[in-house]
Amino acid sequence: MTNYAIILAAGKGTRMKSNLPKVLHKVSGITMLEHVFRSVSAISPAKNITVIGHKAESVREVLQGKSEFALQTEQLGTGHAVMMAQEELAGLDGQTLVIAGDTPLITGESLQNLVDFHVNHKNVATILTATAEDPFGYGRIIRNQNGEVVKIIEQKDASEFEQQIKEINTGTYIFDNKRLFDALKDLNTNNAQGEYYLTDLISIFRQNGEKVGAFTLHEFEESLGVNDRAALAIVEDVMRRRINKKHMLNGVSFQNPKATYIDVDVEIAPDVIIEANVTLKGQTKISSGAVLTNGSYIVDSLIGENAVITNSMIESSKVERNVTVGPYAHLRPDSTLKKGAHVGNFVEVKASRLGENSKAGHLTYIGNAEVGSDVNFGAGTILANYDGQNKYTTVIGNNVFIGSNSTLIAPVELGDNALTAAGSVIAEDVPADAVAIARSHQVNKEGYARKKAHHPSQQ
Ligand code: UD1
Ligand code: MG
Repeated sequence: MTNYAIILAAGKGTRMKSNLPKVLHKVSGITMLEHVFRSVSAISPAKNITVIGHKAESVREVLQGKSEFALQTEQLGTGHAVMMAQEELAGLDGQTLVIAGDTPLITGESLQNLVDFHVNHKNVATILTATAEDPFGYGRIIRNQNGEVVKIIEQKDASEFEQQIKEINTGTYIFDNKRLFDALKDLNTNNAQGEYYLTDLISIFRQNGEKVGAFTLHEFEESLGVNDRAALAIVEDVMRRRINKKHMLNGVSFQNPKATYIDVDVEIAPDVIIEANVTLKGQTKISSGAVLTNGSYIVDSLIGENAVITNSMIESSKVERNVTVGPYAHLRPDSTLKKGAHVGNFVEVKASRLGENSKAGHLTYIGNAEVGSDVNFGAGTILANYDGQNKYTTVIGNNVFIGSNSTLIAPVELGDNALTAAGSVIAEDVPADAVAIARSHQVNKEGYARKKAHHPSQQ
């Protein structure tokens, strides 16, 4: 039978106290809405409709090209939100998954299990439920003496007795598609919140004598719905544990997984060692044998085999194998360190390429540079790449030696094997094999210091 899916993402998320629509808050690097969309993809829906409303355009952008959209101009409740998909879905044969955009921990596997259960039991509606230690805030599942589900009652409408019930509605359901859109017509707003509750469909089906059921998750955790920032932090914590465990099972060592922050799309090869307080974000990939020490913060970057990154920040850059970075180095976007290169303490590299085995050990700025192999940057080298208006390129050949405290004023080119004397200000090109000395001559005034400074009484 054909599967369809509706993701509810039109709400503002008042309890988040945020300018950003709730479903656009991120968990481990991607929005809650993308987490939900990825899980939904596991059941291969023939049509996927995302209901958008509050700040619709920014929500649409996240799933542009992946989902169709239905606009809910006024947020009159979850039942009303589903009605908005009527044009796309009503009348089609098949079954429709409805899921809230604020439950990012529900897995694709659970959704597939829910579909299978629903089909096997020939239900008209099946609710995904869980048992909550603290069920406050969730809709509760009301069962009769035979254990059959009869209705869902919302927190705000629940009697004291009903509030004791620990079986909760995860906000995910699967419905016979045709019956879903028929029954939506029978919803009303006679409840504590004056909204069209999707949850009321269960009692409507029951009253019609139709078969409804519940499929219960083993772990409550998976069903966590994010309504405020406290829940967001809990969800982040659960997601982090899941991600880190996946990497550990793949052969990655973590010194302290509780304090290691890895986005969901980061790839890590086996035999990588990660110390505490490391953050890996975005589309980062770490190759085998790499060591990332405490405090390293790596965004959208590629780290090669056996590279060692010591307490450094790397953004949108590429570090090849056997490179060493840090401590306290900063690779800014669009930098490449070829194999065996070394960038040490208080070195900043921006939009530059450093050839194989080139080294900048200390206190150096390398910006907009093309650097050959086996180049040595002395301590305190500055590439002056900016005149206040434009950025210029510095080109450095192979095997160049740059003396400490040199300033290279771009645009400038240094040929292979060139050498600059310490303290030089290089404003003109240096040919290959040449030594450039660009500093004033030293003058020694014999006895002058003794006379002037150390024996003022003789003056
Ligand atoms: C809902 C369920 C509750 C369940 C809980 C699980 C109802 C009435 N209640 O409550 O039983 O335990 O989820 O997390 O369904 N939305 C719209 N349009 C609207 C209203 C909401 O698109 O008019 C979207 C929201 O953006 C959100 C989702 O629906 O993604 C759920 O809405 P929310 O307000 O969070 O419902 P809960 O109070 O959590
Ligand atoms: Mg919610």
